Amino acid sequence: MMMEDLEKVVFTPEDLAQKIRDMGAQISRDYAGKELFVVGILKGASMFTMDLLRAITIPLELDFIAVSSYGSGVSSGGEVKMLKDTILDMRGKNVLLCEDIIDSGTTMAKLLPMLKGRQPASLKLCALLSKPSRRVAPVEIDYCGWEVPDEFIVGYGLDYAEKYRNLPCIGVLKREIYT
Ligand code: IMP
Ligand code: MG
Repeated sequence: MMMEDLEKVVFTPEDLAQKIRDMGAQISRDYAGKELFVVGILKGASMFTMDLLRAITIPLELDFIAVSSYGSGVSSGGEVKMLKDTILDMRGKNVLLCEDIIDSGTTMAKLLPMLKGRQPASLKLCALLSKPSRRVAPVEIDYCGWEVPDEFIVGYGLDYAEKYRNLPCIGVLKREIYT
């Protein structure tokens, strides 16, 4: 049913698992001996964050934030609002922010300085996906899974109008679904 709404599959569950294993191994090496605090961004990055956690072999703390984003449309709006904050304090910790996809970059361009103001020991960004051709605000991604072209994709946490998040793969949504 949901799969029929996809024009094509871009990343299979196996692709995702392999990439996340690699990212987790890299992060485990880079943060060895340090206190790691993983902060996932709801709701899009929830699946990615939980899978990434299981690929990280060093001790860590976990929390989530939620920020306002697209609503039900497919293009980015103006302001970024903190809808749900962390429960734990970031001060003095090595924060690794986990996002599903960096698109225009406007969300991160506003969120990163806001979080830096909380004086973490370090703040790095981990994104499963990036659409560099869509960038409006420059964003430095410390750990990036894949760069993807300018196509609207869903699945593995990514939604269109709150649907398709539970697809175990990532695919391009058929145009007729959102036009
Ligand atoms: P940005 O501020 O434009 O970088 O917006 C990033 C956010 O837009 C991501 O966290 C996603 O929630 C959403 N987004 C961007 N591109 C896509 C897409 O192709 N499919 C689903 N959500 C997307
Ligand atoms: Mg998002």
